[in-house]
Amino acid sequence: MKSKKILVLGANGFIGSSLCAHLLAKTDFEVYGVDLATHKLMPCLNHDRFHFQELDLTIHDEAIEYLVKKCDVVLPLVAIATPGVYVTNPLGVFELDFEANLKVVRWCVRYDKRVIFPSTSEVYGMASDAAFDEYNTSCVLGPVDKQRWIYACSKQLMDRIIYAYGFQRDLDYTLFRPFNFIGPKLDDIRNEAGSRVVTQFLHNILQGKPIELVNGGQQTRCFTFIEDGIDCLLKIIENKEHCASRGIFNVGNPNENYSVAQLAHIIVDVVSEFDPKWAANIQIKSVTSDEHYGIAYQDVERRVPVIREAQEKLHWQPKVNLKDAIRITLDYHLNGTDRDAVLLQQNHR
Ligand code: UGA
Repeated sequence: MKSKKILVLGANGFIGSSLCAHLLAKTDFEVYGVDLATHKLMPCLNHDRFHFQELDLTIHDEAIEYLVKKCDVVLPLVAIATPGVYVTNPLGVFELDFEANLKVVRWCVRYDKRVIFPSTSEVYGMASDAAFDEYNTSCVLGPVDKQRWIYACSKQLMDRIIYAYGFQRDLDYTLFRPFNFIGPKLDDIRNEAGSRVVTQFLHNILQGKPIELVNGGQQTRCFTFIEDGIDCLLKIIENKEHCASRGIFNVGNPNENYSVAQLAHIIVDVVSEFDPKWAANIQIKSVTSDEHYGIAYQDVERRVPVIREAQEKLHWQPKVNLKDAIRITLDYHLNGTDRDAVLLQQNHR
């Protein structure tokens, strides 16, 4: 039997790169990867079932439409997903996260392909529920001048369009909502500013700069280790007895719910395992959100997923705690341990 083909747009991204490695190591898929660069994909590049093309989703319509037509399953993972950019380049977020991805979804409809789309925990916004549920929680966004919400709003409209294509045009889709995935290849640690919190804290520590707690750091997040997230995605892709078709899944770890201030202290603890003297010199300071992001920012105070859908339909359960996830991330940045490379060496298929 011929192997199935999967298209990963944004293959060099945080989720994309790890997903490609796991697909090659654990499945028989022919993996078609598209991105503008390959640095996170090094372990995959020479694999005989990996086919990489350097293409830009905002320019190379014809080539990407052809790939959609050729593949069986499509994951459009190209997106800007850092709050620092939502407030400085909101149009860029709309053009990439919404406009460019809508074309891909429409090609999936046209060629009758299965699409697995990354929604986001951000669609729930400032909902007041203690935990966010895919089918019961309202999506609560802030005012228009708080441009932080353009990402959540773009993703939410994509969710609604994809859902409607399922309803009216039989599109086979799954929406998954990552809740603060973290891990080695999240953002670029060399970036001065604007990364997501774990990378930003590690960047500051490596540069000898103080860690900045936005508004005191009492806001909470549930941190989910990337490999737990990928494990869930593989189950969605496998789609045993159509368990994921036309489903919406929160993918998060409700047990690893910490304030940003607690996160800072956990990171300091892990750094001290590597080098106690270094950890003793880390400074933590509080800044206002206006100082850190500018006035177009508004924060999410609490964000806990209900994961019943994923537990019951996909038989998925996250396993890795925050401290271990930070250990693995630091090991990558300090010692260069690339777990995707190790996985592929151990599982050559
Ligand atoms: C993230 C991003 O929007 C997306 O990556 C994604 O869709 C979604 O949420 C998710 O990963 O679930 P957010 O959770 O606010 O948004 O992401 P971070 O930038 O990692 O910020 C987390 C918290 O840390 C925020 O409250 C922020 O104000 C705070 N922070 C961030 C600091 O206190 N200091 C910093 O240096 C950076």
